Amino acid sequence: MAKSTSQIVLVLSGPNLNLLGERQPEIYGTDSLDDHMRRVEEAAKQLGLQIEKVSAQSAAELITAIHSARNRCAAIIINPGALTHFAWSLHDALASFTGPIVEVHLSNPSTREEWRHESVVAPVASGTIAGFGADSYVFAVHAVATLLAKKK
Ligand code: DQA
Repeated sequence: MAKSTSQIVLVLSGPNLNLLGERQPEIYGTDSLDDHMRRVEEAAKQLGLQIEKVSAQSAAELITAIHSARNRCAAIIINPGALTHFAWSLHDALASFTGPIVEVHLSNPSTREEWRHESVVAPVASGTIAGFGADSYVFAVHAVATLLAKKK
């Protein structure tokens, strides 16, 4: 049977996350973004969700993807990278999305430099998962599945 479009989860990766595995492995680990996305797809499949992935180096690309998810995708998982801390246009785009939004970070930004302590995404997210390294994304898929099940 064809999957209903209400089960699509958009997974957004912001700037520099394409360099995961090479970039500061002592902070972000040695898994590549593809490794993380493979685990996301596996978890989603088990939970009956369909994944759409966008990896972007600018807020503009992420915002375009969010606009296209409106009235089409059921939920959004987003690791905005450093845009987390200042990109109010990203905040506004996410505010226009009506489904669950889970903010994800591999590291725990609140234990790092002070400029990372504020998230402009958190006020428009259903919740934030941060600091669990390679498990963060998988936890986010489970969080989305729980939130979507509650909406039914
Ligand atoms: C990050 C945390 C951000 O502060 C940082 O700019 C990143 C990665 C994380 O996943 O831990 O690029 O979002």
